[in-house]
Amino acid sequence: MNILGIETSCDETAAAVVKDGRSVLSNVVYTQIPLHRPYGGVVPEIASRAHVEKISEVVTEAISKFRECEPDGKIDAVAVTYGPGLSPALIVGLNAAKGLAVSMGVPIYCINHIEAHLHTPFLSDVGDDVYASCPIESKMPALALAISGGHTNWFELSNYGSYRLLGQTLDDAAGEAFDKAAKLLNLGYPGGPKIDSIAKAYRASFGEDFRRWKDSLEPFPKGCPREGVSVLAGLPADMCVSFSGLKTALLRYVQKHHELLSPSPDEPRLEYKGGESVTLELARIVSSYQEAIVGAVADRTRTALKRGDYKSFIIGGGVSLNSRLREVLKRTAENEGVEFLTAKPKYCGDNGAMIAALAYYRRNLTGEDALAADVSPSLELG
Ligand code: KG4
Ligand code: ZN
Repeated sequence: MNILGIETSCDETAAAVVKDGRSVLSNVVYTQIPLHRPYGGVVPEIASRAHVEKISEVVTEAISKFRECEPDGKIDAVAVTYGPGLSPALIVGLNAAKGLAVSMGVPIYCINHIEAHLHTPFLSDVGDDVYASCPIESKMPALALAISGGHTNWFELSNYGSYRLLGQTLDDAAGEAFDKAAKLLNLGYPGGPKIDSIAKAYRASFGEDFRRWKDSLEPFPKGCPREGVSVLAGLPADMCVSFSGLKTALLRYVQKHHELLSPSPDEPRLEYKGGESVTLELARIVSSYQEAIVGAVADRTRTALKRGDYKSFIIGGGVSLNSRLREVLKRTAENEGVEFLTAKPKYCGDNGAMIAALAYYRRNLTGEDALAADVSPSLELG
């Protein structure tokens, strides 16, 4: 069964065709990042207009690439993200999908964006059969972490498609915490990839001397909610994170150390990916901030893994691209004897393949209900 997936929940206009929920036959992503960069964040009105301008081109390209793989292939259904996300952005994808489904005479499935991120480790490309043959059920029960610009949530998946929320952020999502810090430090948008690259170069500058690198970091707060509270938002406090204290600590540091953002020309500098450079001191602060986020996420993950009896640990969402987070979470899972599952980097950010793939397994909003569906900007999972 070939499903065309459409994704427009934020700043990527994306479409893909996926066979039987696993095999990606085409995947087209148009990113709007350059349009939002001057504003330091996603502007919903700009996102919506750009989706309107690009959606036909992106869908047409996804279908024509699919035809290159399967000249006589047929699209059997259309799947689309209906939430969570930015309302004016979601509307563009949902309406396009409804129109396509009706004109092609195929069913439409409405999909939860966060749930789709958690399906990404199971995506495979034509020619690689790594996961294509393993039944997803064989990885259950699983602990799953959705970590993106809007979410930092831990779920227990007892069966595929059955989610129980175990923990979450009480304020900013991890991606938001990265982006806000990058804005404060004049590193540009989106901040996550920049911070990742700078922190990587900083760590590499210590060679194999892990201890000296660790000792050089600023002791920022580790994302713990208020002390002495045992339950927050109905969840155990030790399964919740809060990044507001960390953000404030960074702001205070910047206010106290003016030279961080206005360094003298003879300050030592560090080159990072793409030939750009920052002062060594700024790199140290950026690395300390990243380490605080990674440490908080790893702590909660360890707690959850110790409490449950899981076969795998799944991570999905844009922040799962973070190289240090991947390294630490992989080790955390393996130390607990649990298989670590994450997507290929190209499927970590927003894409249509994850929407098409999940729809094969989860057709919970279909038929007339899907055709009548409205967007659900605050849609939750679990
Ligand atoms: O999943 P995604 O593409 O969109 C949402 O559903 O939110 O995630 C976007 C988020 C942004 O906050 C971006 O800064 C973050 O993912 N991100 C990263 C990295 N790459 C993207 N954060 C940390 N390190 C990265 N390498
Ligand atoms: Zn996303």
